[in-house]
Amino acid sequence: MIATKDDVLAALGKVSGPDGAPLPAAGKLSDIVVSDGKVFLSITVDAGAVREWEAVRENAQRAIAALPGVTSAMVALTAERAGGTTPRSQAAPPRPRGGGAPGGHAAASPAGVPGIGAIIAVASGKGGVGKSTTAVNLALALRELGLKVGILDADIYGPSMPKLLGIHERPQSAGGNRLRPIERYGMAVMSIGFLIEEETPMIWRGPMVISALTQMLREVEWGTLDVLVVDMPPGTGDAQLTMAQQVPLKGAVIVSTPQDLALIDARRGIAMFRRVNVPVIGIVENMSTFVCPHCGTRSDIFGHGGARREAERLGVPFLGEVPLDIAIREKSDAGSPVVSATADDPHAQYYRAIAARVRDGLAVSGRPAPKIVIEA
Ligand SMILES: Nc1ncnc2c1ncn2[C@@H]1O[C@H](COP(=O)(O)OP(=O)(O)OP(=O)(O)O)[C@@H](O)[C@H]1O
Ligand SMILES: [Mg+2]
Repeated sequence: MIATKDDVLAALGKVSGPDGAPLPAAGKLSDIVVSDGKVFLSITVDAGAVREWEAVRENAQRAIAALPGVTSAMVALTAERAGGTTPRSQAAPPRPRGGGAPGGHAAASPAGVPGIGAIIAVASGKGGVGKSTTAVNLALALRELGLKVGILDADIYGPSMPKLLGIHERPQSAGGNRLRPIERYGMAVMSIGFLIEEETPMIWRGPMVISALTQMLREVEWGTLDVLVVDMPPGTGDAQLTMAQQVPLKGAVIVSTPQDLALIDARRGIAMFRRVNVPVIGIVENMSTFVCPHCGTRSDIFGHGGARREAERLGVPFLGEVPLDIAIREKSDAGSPVVSATADDPHAQYYRAIAARVRDGLAVSGRPAPKIVIEA
């Protein structure tokens, strides 16, 4: 049995808005996308009314999910923006965070996620610099340090975790709207890629993204985690800025390649996080040095040391270098990242060193640190 748009609309007709009228009558619904049993839609509301609409969103999602033939339902709340500014929760008071630039925006901090000690973003200004590769290996290396780790692939433009971790199954429902994350290499994994087909395009771009992200954070049974690593979409545009604002981040790791152009973008990334008062834990230089797979000779294809110098200049910690090595790409492509439970790989050392610095960076960031196993 296949659910149609009309079925969805009929189900929504039984859900009341905050004023008691049927939801479709409010004129706030986006187009309804029904694809292969998955239903997506958004409700656009005034930024100040987000709170009262949250229950409506949940009811709508539940009503759709209960329809025969619907395998997953995602209803997103999007806040109407005025004058090109980013939507902000009106309810939560601003909470000071260390490491922000003086005069940065006093963003209202989103509430933390119960059970998760620290959420950190892995981000880059520029695409294709190795953010996802770094995120997954960093997460695995943090796990080796004794932390309980999850990874959330928030890259709505090109989710990578299903491929990087060789995941082919879909997350199961944990009852109600909640999903159980996939377990891989001892980590809890969630990816927007599990919920959408690669071809499901434009509807995710733009404001819906934010609500989808919020749902992946708050409607997934993460359990108790010390650290949740979030692989962010590339860029420093409006969507990324809003994400940085909406996720209760304890810090951000910026990935850059050494060349000037990437560094300019990395600088933008750092500025973005500072603007929303998220401390920058540090910079990673990826594809730092090329190691020839045949002769082992090192050459600096993109230059070398640029990110370290940039980190010094900007006064943020330098977390380490990862060489450009074909083995790192091959293992990633094969769904078995170099730092994985099954591989004792010489390349894992780079990520282990970075993970130790990230752990230490979290411990000194001035807020309660996650449960940390401190090595002598
Ligand atoms: N240190 C490395 N050595 C060799 N290959 C690498 C390294 N880091 C990343 N790669 C490869 O470079 C490509 C891009 O990496 P990745 O997908 O991690 O980048 P990204 O910044 O997440 O990209 P996007 O912006 O598209 O999300 C991949 O094929 C990956 O395997
Ligand atoms: Mg990526």
